[in-house]
Amino acid sequence: MDVRKVRIVRRHDERPNIMYVEIEKWLLDIGDVLEFDLFMAEGKLTEKTLLLSKHIPINSDIKIEIDSRHAIYVRQSDLEAYNIFVDKIAQAVARNEHIPVIKKAAIIYRQASVILDEMFENPEELENVPKTKKVVNTFVNTIFSDTHAIESMIKITAYDYYTHTHSINVCIYSLSLGSYLELNSITLQELGMSALLHDLGKSRVDPKITNKKGRLTEDEFDEMKHHPLYGHTIALKIGIRDNRILDGIRHHHEKLDGSGYPDGLMGNSITLFARIIAVCDVFDALSTQRSYKERMSSYDTLLLMKKTMQHHLDMVLVDSFIKMQQHSDALTAL
Ligand SMILES: [Fe+2]
Repeated sequence: MDVRKVRIVRRHDERPNIMYVEIEKWLLDIGDVLEFDLFMAEGKLTEKTLLLSKHIPINSDIKIEIDSRHAIYVRQSDLEAYNIFVDKIAQAVARNEHIPVIKKAAIIYRQASVILDEMFENPEELENVPKTKKVVNTFVNTIFSDTHAIESMIKITAYDYYTHTHSINVCIYSLSLGSYLELNSITLQELGMSALLHDLGKSRVDPKITNKKGRLTEDEFDEMKHHPLYGHTIALKIGIRDNRILDGIRHHHEKLDGSGYPDGLMGNSITLFARIIAVCDVFDALSTQRSYKERMSSYDTLLLMKKTMQHHLDMVLVDSFIKMQQHSDALTAL
């Protein structure tokens, strides 16, 4: 994919005052000379400090600073320059088997991010479907190609919450959990598509509601509750016919005790895809940072899910998710 041809237009209504975009810091290396400035966050969430000006090579001190930060940002107006940089790296990485899997994972994440941006801008554009399939296929192939791929992919999930990064994170978590459960590659491909598109219906909900920082009113929540149905309708419209994919999109907010939406399904009538996506959706929503709240640690998030959501989420899957996280932490420590 030639990202240089893609004009990146983030939904302006998603974070009205945003001027900076988080980038995949794993792609930055000593000696790189960039066409964009790098920023880090200090103090309040919205404040960013210049870390490195463009055209100055990254030295070892800057690299240590980059590695020690949770997130590195570029100006929104520099996003296109950043995508050109990723495009150049992608070609080099494709030719080199010795490049660490974390770099490969970060490149796929960026490519997924570009496509999801397009998808949320033009949800009914048929051309986006094969691109989305290709991204999921690359994720699945990466998982099967390297024993460290899952922990690398979990490591690159973004900390800041946007609808499209949330969708990619949920896709990565769902594929990691599915792989831990030893689902085959065809099933993983379908699960990944369903997870990546699970919130596509939010593109039809009034942005004033999807971007609201406080609690939703009853009417607003009623409208928000339509997004699984909207997503199901859009998915059908763009030619997705696989029932497992459609079902995951439609039923990711169903709860085991029947109190979920849109169909109030109970227990085993909620399919595996919907139950997996639900666990990963809740985990990511709680553990990422929003403009109005700090992120919760993975440990606290999982504890909260175990303690308070046993009537909503499949606890066997939550336990598997915890074991999968422990497994990937253990691999990281090796
Ligand atoms: Fe959702």
